[in-house]
Amino acid sequence: MTTNHSPAFVATCLAAFLFAGPAPAQVPGTNAAPRMKAVVYHDYGSPDVLRLEEIEKPVPNDHQILVRVRAASVNPLEWHYVRGSPYIARLIGFGLLKPEVTRLGVDFAGTVEAVGRSVTRFKPGDEVFGGRTGAFAEYVAVLEDRGVALKPTNVTFEQAASVPIAGITALQALRDKGKIQPGQKVLINGASGGVGTFAVQLAKSFGADVTGVCSTRNVGMVRSIGADQVIDYTREDLTKTDQHYDLILDNVGNHSLLEWKGLLKPKGILVTVGGGGPNDRWMGTFFTRPIKALILSPFVSQKFEMLLAELNKSDLTILGDLMQAGKLKPVIDRRYSLNEVPQAIGYLEKGHARGKVIITVDPEQVAAVTVHPASSTNTVAPVLIILAFIGIVVGVTIVPIVVAFVLNRRFQRSNPGKRPYRWGNYFSIQAFIGGIALGILLEAGVGAMIAFAVIYGTLAWFFAQRRHWAWITLTILSLNPIAWIINSIYLRKRWAEDSAAARPAYARTA
Ligand SMILES: NC(=O)c1ccc[n+]([C@@H]2O[C@H](COP(=O)([O-])OP(=O)(O)OC[C@H]3O[C@@H](n4cnc5c(N)ncnc54)[C@H](OP(=O)(O)O)[C@@H]3O)[C@@H](O)[C@H]2O)c1
Repeated sequence: MTTNHSPAFVATCLAAFLFAGPAPAQVPGTNAAPRMKAVVYHDYGSPDVLRLEEIEKPVPNDHQILVRVRAASVNPLEWHYVRGSPYIARLIGFGLLKPEVTRLGVDFAGTVEAVGRSVTRFKPGDEVFGGRTGAFAEYVAVLEDRGVALKPTNVTFEQAASVPIAGITALQALRDKGKIQPGQKVLINGASGGVGTFAVQLAKSFGADVTGVCSTRNVGMVRSIGADQVIDYTREDLTKTDQHYDLILDNVGNHSLLEWKGLLKPKGILVTVGGGGPNDRWMGTFFTRPIKALILSPFVSQKFEMLLAELNKSDLTILGDLMQAGKLKPVIDRRYSLNEVPQAIGYLEKGHARGKVIITVDPEQVAAVTVHPASSTNTVAPVLIILAFIGIVVGVTIVPIVVAFVLNRRFQRSNPGKRPYRWGNYFSIQAFIGGIALGILLEAGVGAMIAFAVIYGTLAWFFAQRRHWAWITLTILSLNPIAWIINSIYLRKRWAEDSAAARPAYARTA
């Protein structure tokens, strides 16, 4: 029994949800229910947590087709899922302590084995490709009007399986976010990876002048797929080039927004597609870059865009047509079998795949593999995450309360008769902590962190001396609307009290 949830976008910051929706539920089968082998995981961790298990074979509902998977492909999305990183993604859909969806893989190509009663577009025997969570399996059931299209006749299952996520991402980044035009100068950072190899070819087909960025060993390959110029980042500092681009596609996230700004023409567009590796555990480029872009955007003429790709039938069809016309040729790096998915993901997460990494699903080979049900072992990361969240809550709420309380008591003791700032103290301390947190959040480096601490610390010190300008500045810099409202009320009151107290006695009584 399967339910086919929407494969379209669910508003999260990783493309995961964009392509798939929850995987078919794993319902313990009866002896009679047909079974299949699928890659499953029950805990976050390294790719070693993955197991090939026997689960119930999906049965298509009226609107679904059942596809026998012949090939699948691996995307960085999979290691994000397996590792549950960046951790913030666990709060918005991955599952906090354990993966909510235990099936893996999205991109697939295969043969239609059965169709639901209402299906009109496909028939058994059709060769198709598309995206569906749980693609690392012998079968997937897909809604006919969602992420699935007929496979071009002139490409292999492996080539077709390499396209959905990476191809659609490249297409939507260039066309929808980048507004690419013929003759424009386009730079593709990470031109040799899954997304990059499609982006180079698509940008060429849009008539752009394309510069690819990759390492030495991939220079020839990137040129061979159509790049007009190639920058070898191991030999040349990209940021020192005197060239300026209309559109930059960033698949790597290894340069700051200011560095990219320096490479863009005045009306140029930066589209951030991805970035960060397994070591970016907490926030990741995808969460920090929009904040940085928001802060920087009012001061620059260029546009900073983020892409959240969305699987749809029409874009799959466009990519299929381009392959059929010979204008889009997937670059395949390595092939692994279904029981080697951990190795495939382990390879991809090193960040130097050359084109796409493929999982071949050969029925005979899969039948010969003995399954090893997954055991539940991984506990370190969940504990760390819980501690971190407790730390954040305590740091941002409880610590300012306690410190403000102590400061207020001290103030009252040394200034009997005067009222302390109370809320002002509380929000100032919160702003100080928030300022440092902002530095961490923006991954702005140690220098910037120290600068944040010094600025907020100095303001807090002057505020403690009852300097109203410090209170105003700190309140504004707290970036906290509640602090803005409450402090503006209290500031006026205390200001009036302070002014009255400062006046000579004869003036006060007058
Ligand atoms: N926003 C979305 O909807 C969406 C969708 C799909 C993917 N993504 C993200 O997009 C990113 C790229 O995905 P992908 O499938 O292309 O990944 P990938 O196949 O793993 O590609 C990685 C590529 O990055 C290149 N690279 C590594 N360090 C580099 C550097 N310093 N400068 C330039 N290139 C460098 C590597 O080339 P060399 O080996 O030559 O170094 C490699 O070819 C990932 O972060 C992924 O999560 C986002």
